[in-house]
Formats: sequence, structure tokens, C-alpha cells
Amino acid sequence: MSLKDQIPSLLSKITDLSLPEALAYMAQAFPGKVAFSSALGQEDQVITDAIFTNNLPVRIFSLDTGRLFQETYELWAETEQKYNSKIVPYFPDAQEVEQLVSQNGINGFYNSVENRKACCQVRKVVPLRRALQNTDIWVTGLRAGQSENRSSFSMLEWDEAFQVIKFNPIINWSYDEMLAYLQQNQVPYNKLHDQGFISIGCAPCTRAIVAGEEPRAGRWWWEQSKKECGLHANYFNK
Ligand code: ADX
Ligand code: SF4
Repeated sequence: MSLKDQIPSLLSKITDLSLPEALAYMAQAFPGKVAFSSALGQEDQVITDAIFTNNLPVRIFSLDTGRLFQETYELWAETEQKYNSKIVPYFPDAQEVEQLVSQNGINGFYNSVENRKACCQVRKVVPLRRALQNTDIWVTGLRAGQSENRSSFSMLEWDEAFQVIKFNPIINWSYDEMLAYLQQNQVPYNKLHDQGFISIGCAPCTRAIVAGEEPRAGRWWWEQSKKECGLHANYFNK
């Protein structure tokens, strides 16, 4: 049976499981083929805690775009220290970045949506493709409540772009449930969350939000288009 065709039966197996149980089930069903991409966000920290605390055989990696906040790097180090485990880094191709910056400027992403997507492509999407080689199950920290765009996502989806099953284990968690988990389990989080930041990406492309704004309003705030970068491309065009 193809990977894609296994989704309905897998879904019926994991729907009622707890977070660590669902992760453990997938890790056991696809040994060595489950990888979690962490952006060190609040959602990601919940999943990281579940993986490291339960010693689950799931590889955790992060895409270091080279433009992350200092606070994000501090959290990365703090997380590795707390769990005595490694988050595998993936960097963009140096020559591709050099070419991009030479052509568009060091902050060229502000000049057009096209330039911005080109930057996300080089710094995030291309490295993600490399990170997902030999992977069947791509675990993400997506939550339906993050945006209207994400509200229709399911726990398991076929990702046409990367040819993997995308596993969004906390897709149905509310913001409050996520916060409660972080507090109860004393999970380290990004200090920027205490300064009005909700969704955190690259430093030049993220700002804090104010009351009444939607959670992802601080991402690429100068653009009117859908706030996605291409990692979740199969949803982007929905
Ligand atoms: S983004 O596409 O707009 O940047 P967001 O920051 O909301 O995504 O994060 C959603 C999920 O995408 C994260 O839970 C994580 O699985 C993945 N992701 C986003 N950025 C990164 C990154 N830099 N490294 C690893 N995973 C990432
Ligand atoms: Fe480039 Fe901004 Fe995308 Fe980061 S979020 S990869 S800096 S355009």
C-alpha cells in the first residue's frame, strides 16, 4: 500500500491517543522515518517535551535561516541543555544565500512578495527538502487556531510537495491547552512571548501583536497576502 493510502487507517489508530502515545505509535509504525521540524515556537516546545521526556525515537530538527532572533537561539540552547538532547540544525546553501543577497539586497524581502518568497524558499523550503530525505512522517506543530488558513487542517495529511505524510499531533489543541501544558510541565519557552510576540519566525519578518490582532498578524506584517512561507505549501493554495 502506498504511503498516502495508509492515512485513513493510521488516523483511526491515533485519533483517541494522547500526544506521547500518538507520537510513539507513529515512531513504532515507521521506525527511523519520523522527523519533527521545530521552529522553537510554543507549539513546537510542547511536542519537543513529549518526544524528549518519553525518549521517543523521533528526530528533531530546526531550520536555521540565519536570521532568527537571539532569543530563539537562547531557547534552542536552553532546550538542548534541559533535555540533554540535540536538535539537529539545517542551514541554507551558502552559495544560494550569497546569490540571493547579491541580487535582492540584504533585506530585499521587504521590497516585494516575490522577493520575500524567494528568501523563504532559499532559507527554509530548500533546507526542509534536505531535512525530509528518507522521511515518511513529517511532524509539525501546526494548530488549527493559528489562522483561518490553518483551521481546516487535519491531524494527518498527504503532503504532495514533499511526498510525506504530514502529522500535526496538536492540530486540535486550543491556545489555552497549549499554555497549560507548557506551565504544568515547566517547558522552556521563547522570552519574546512575554513581550507580545505570539507566532515567531525570522527577526526581520516578525513583530509583536496588539490586543485584537489575529495570532499571525506579526508575521510579514507589511504584506496583505496569506501569511505563509511555502513550508506548508500544500495548504497555501487551498
Ligand atoms: S511558518 O511556515 O509560518 O514559518 P510557523 O512559524 O507558523 O510556520 O510554524 C508552523 C510549523 O512549521 C512549526 O510548528 C514547525 O513544525 C514548522 N516550522 C516553521 N518554521 C520552522 C523552522 N525554522 N524550522 C523547523 N520547522 C519550522
Ligand atoms: Fe527570509 Fe523573512 Fe522568510 Fe526568514 S521569514 S526566510 S528572513 S523572508
